[in-house]
Amino acid sequence: MGLSTRRLALAHPDHAVIGVDRSEQRLSRDHGALPGNALLVRADLVDFWRLAHEAGWRPARHYLLYPNPYPKSAQLKKRWHGHPVFPTLVALGGRLELRSNWAIYVEEFALAVEALCDRRGEWGAFQPEETFLTPFERKYTESGQTLWRYAVDLD
Ligand SMILES: C[S@@+](CC[C@H](N)C(=O)[O-])C[C@H]1O[C@@H](n2cnc3c(N)ncnc32)[C@H](O)[C@@H]1O
Repeated sequence: MGLSTRRLALAHPDHAVIGVDRSEQRLSRDHGALPGNALLVRADLVDFWRLAHEAGWRPARHYLLYPNPYPKSAQLKKRWHGHPVFPTLVALGGRLELRSNWAIYVEEFALAVEALCDRRGEWGAFQPEETFLTPFERKYTESGQTLWRYAVDLD
């Protein structure tokens, strides 16, 4: 969590970058000093996205980095695109990027965005360049798994 926030803040020095996770343990791992334009927040994203939407926030970009895949069919509503908060996430606008080691998750997510707002986006396999954005990205790459990425412009 801290790692991706740090790297995105360094890559986008003209933006404020907020890293959100509900796990204190995940947030407290030391990945080096946070740049001045970065903030880590412990929150449930269901609340965070609803409050951000109510407050009229329009993020330039959001990244959903390796969300829990919840692979059993009975867990569909736990995947972000099956969760009741999904329309709120999409309504926030901006460029939305999802990364996962689970192709079906990414494909379903892309179909759900298209069904909701008729935006197609692009998705496919990718290999991290130079550095890993997150600890899970590193873990999946080093264990030989294919990584998948989807990006869509919601504005
Ligand atoms: C597989 S880990 C990926 C962590 C990190 N993004 C990475 O790529 O290394 C999934 C993370 O999602 C967080 N998470 C799951 N549901 C959440 C929610 N509703 N709100 C905030 N964080 C959540 C978990 O705490 C966990 O840290």
